Amino acid sequence: MKLTIIGTGYVGLVTGACFAEVGHEVICVDNDAAKVRMLRGGGIPIYEPGLEELVNKNAASGRLTFTDSTAEGVQRSQVVFIAVPTPPQPDGSVDMSYIERVARDIAAAVTEYKIVVDKSTVPVKTGDKVAETIRRYCKAKVDLDVVSNPEFLREGFAVGDLMKPDRIVIGVRSQRPVAAMKEIYTPFQAPIIVTDINSAELIKHAANSFLALKISYINAIAAICEAAGANVQEVADGIGLDERIGRRFLNAGIGFGGSCFPKDLSAFIKIAEQIGCDFKLLKEVQRINADQMERFVKKITDTLWVLKDKTIGVLGLAFKQNTDDVRSSPAIELCQKLLKEGARLRVHDPKAMEKARAILPEGPNVTYVGDMNAVADGCDALVVATEWEEFKKLDLERAYESLAHPILFDGRNLFVPAEMEKLGWIYKSVGR
Ligand code: UDX
Repeated sequence: MKLTIIGTGYVGLVTGACFAEVGHEVICVDNDAAKVRMLRGGGIPIYEPGLEELVNKNAASGRLTFTDSTAEGVQRSQVVFIAVPTPPQPDGSVDMSYIERVARDIAAAVTEYKIVVDKSTVPVKTGDKVAETIRRYCKAKVDLDVVSNPEFLREGFAVGDLMKPDRIVIGVRSQRPVAAMKEIYTPFQAPIIVTDINSAELIKHAANSFLALKISYINAIAAICEAAGANVQEVADGIGLDERIGRRFLNAGIGFGGSCFPKDLSAFIKIAEQIGCDFKLLKEVQRINADQMERFVKKITDTLWVLKDKTIGVLGLAFKQNTDDVRSSPAIELCQKLLKEGARLRVHDPKAMEKARAILPEGPNVTYVGDMNAVADGCDALVVATEWEEFKKLDLERAYESLAHPILFDGRNLFVPAEMEKLGWIYKSVGR
């Protein structure tokens, strides 16, 4: 099928590439002409495993093309996906201006029946607003259907999540667009659930909030484990084997971050408030997440006492492993808190150093280190802030020799406490 995707950010670009990969003819639109030039030249604006190969392969075959003209994109396909940002505003609500702008651009370009599919994460009832806006601004008075089709991809695993989804959610007002939507997704061989449009929009916020809740739950258990002398990893294994609970998203640490969970939680709390519901449970999820960071910083200050003029090595800047994304990264937040206490930092991340420099500038108190094994040189202690697999291969012998004292604060529970103690480390992790 011929498909148009408006917005070539994480969601739009990965979705476009995967649709092309299964045989659809895809045109990706972005109003940033420089980005479109970059994509046409084979450049990829984000790091995402497998994406570059997928984009280049499908661009070479002609199934994936790029334009900065919304009108061209809208006219080429019957199905137009909206995948533009929905950033948070200072009060936690969602900034809908990008979506509204695209709705007006579609209205100006549309001359015949279209299915307009919202893929961005949006508040419930956005579909109605998009339909209303297009109808209001469309001079041609054409017929259209608006569909909600949320994505559930994780950064770092986006290509895999899209090629092998757990489920496809299609939210509709009428049955008319269902056949076309099913045709688009048939090659992905996933269960398809067709709902009303409001439910589809809620599914996205409800899913992300539940996952965040699961992490805060295990982090709350971690605090109890520390006080009681238990091991949160063993507790997570023990409860996770219950199929009704599941082991995934039960890793305790310094809390969740990223461009989705914090934003979606705030948005969901705000959306609930606007329709008269006080979602106290989610406020508690946020509070536990903030506490988790404070407890970890306290662990560091309790051990090192005064941080002023101490040098701390920090492994990890990205909000999680396998990504260069530092938006709402707990690792960066931790660095900022340590700097505020007067510490000097030597920091490293396998992929996120370039993006981190913009929010954690290099200077007298922050040194970026290219080799993870050199981070500990001249430091008083080492901190693990992101769950990168490769940190498990850290040269512990070299770090032991380099540090003033062999102290490791493991904010992601990557190492085994008993082994670290056997090697002579003062090792502090989370909930163990
Ligand atoms: C998330 C959802 O997983 C995805 O379905 C949705 O579409 C977008 O939001 P993403 O933001 O890419 O994806 O990150 P995710 O892998 O969910 O991790 C989010 C945060 O939770 C990270 O900071 C991670 O370190 C943390 N996390 C995750 C934990 O602290 N413990 C866990 O057990 C899992």
